[in-house]
Amino acid sequence: MAYDAGIDTPAAPGGEGVRRRDFINIAAVSAAGAGGAAVLYPLISQMAPSADVLAQGTAEVDISAVQPGQAIKAVFRKQPLFIRNLTAVEIEEANKVDVGSLRDPQTLKERTKEGHENWLITMGVCTHLGCVPSGAATGEVKGEFGGYFCPCHGSHYDTAARIRKGPAPKNLQVPEYKFTSDTVVTIG
Ligand code: FES
Repeated sequence: MAYDAGIDTPAAPGGEGVRRRDFINIAAVSAAGAGGAAVLYPLISQMAPSADVLAQGTAEVDISAVQPGQAIKAVFRKQPLFIRNLTAVEIEEANKVDVGSLRDPQTLKERTKEGHENWLITMGVCTHLGCVPSGAATGEVKGEFGGYFCPCHGSHYDTAARIRKGPAPKNLQVPEYKFTSDTVVTIG
């Protein structure tokens, strides 16, 4: 099963087939998560954060290679972190939502940094019971709203990583971060 990372992927209807696929997806997420961390390691290592920075639990990530429609996974304070470069269409999708209708009302602007609204940086931890949602890697299911999908109990997040459907009570958490430059972010 292959999905284009830049294309919204509708959720499959319920039934046995979904449950089987979810198991497959969980396995894929685990493998991709490990791969993402491995890929990011050289970038973080290359930045060589000083000992005092490490002590504060911050991490610098080079995002220069992440193209629109792509995302990378990192590990921050022992938890998965998603860094996503939104396409113009994904930004438009997020901005046209009636915020008042949301379970956890937030605009995309409130969830990103001024001048960097295309960079959606969130923890990769479902706010229901803590599973790792899919959608950050090429081929992963993004759910009915084109953002992230948690296969554990079926939570769907949109292109601003806001909860739109399923049991999760809150949007994916946006950690503290800042842009050190246009291509480097400091998380934490
Ligand atoms: S942990 Fe994500 S939906 Fe339950």
